[in-house]
Amino acid sequence: MEVVIVPDAESGGDLIAEAMARLLRQKPDALLGVATGSTPLPVYRALSARVRAGGADTSRARVAQLDEYVGLPAEHPESYRSVLRREVLEPLGIPMERFLGPDGAAEDVQAACEDYDRALATAGGVDLQLLGIGTDGHIGFNEPCSSLASRTRIKTLTEQTRVDNARFFEGDIEQVPHHVITQGIGTILEARHLVLLATGEGKADAVAATVEGPVAAVCPASALQLHPHATVVVDEGAASRLKLADYFRHTYAHKPHWQGL
Ligand code: F6R
Repeated sequence: MEVVIVPDAESGGDLIAEAMARLLRQKPDALLGVATGSTPLPVYRALSARVRAGGADTSRARVAQLDEYVGLPAEHPESYRSVLRREVLEPLGIPMERFLGPDGAAEDVQAACEDYDRALATAGGVDLQLLGIGTDGHIGFNEPCSSLASRTRIKTLTEQTRVDNARFFEGDIEQVPHHVITQGIGTILEARHLVLLATGEGKADAVAATVEGPVAAVCPASALQLHPHATVVVDEGAASRLKLADYFRHTYAHKPHWQGL
């Protein structure tokens, strides 16, 4: 995997937005896999700035969701579908017809999960999947000890993740659902390019385990080590526990510019 250490979250967002813009130049109808949470916001801001300035063309781009709360109606302001509509689709000018996501309000959740895996495959698979990382090493909502071969399915959130996410529900943990639908780790690994962004010292232990630890279900993000094209973009805080930080800096500084991420 490639590790790129950037000075701050905004530079990370800019770098990844450029990779997305480049992908869209090569493949205008690329399927972009997007994450929610705070970390990816600089990416979406930087990409929509490029779209406004004519530096990126999203007129045929498609977007796929990574995970969704179970039991929240789609129109709930904190359903991930609503969040993505606000933070990604509208700023990028992408209509809902070019959006794929699981149905978190389905009566038959298992069928909704299987339908979503099928829909991703039918759409030709995700070209670039943007990921955040939990303080416990989760990707999507694959909490520690999720199978590294898992498919899209229902998962129970850890208390830590519910505490972390209570900030989106007026600080009230009681409002945070216990269950989610998440793309499985096996599903995520099928994307052609994985790009994980982590910012802040709070993510430093999870990043070190992901990059320099063993591949182990206890740190779901470590599965990125199995992917032929995985990029981990970290700011100084998130990089602060990496033993090989100098090596990563050196390698990236000498990378041929034309390669991109
Ligand atoms: C959400 C998701 C999660 C978040 C992770 C980090 O779609 O996939 O894995 O990326 O919980 O969240 P933030 O970025 O808010 O720290």
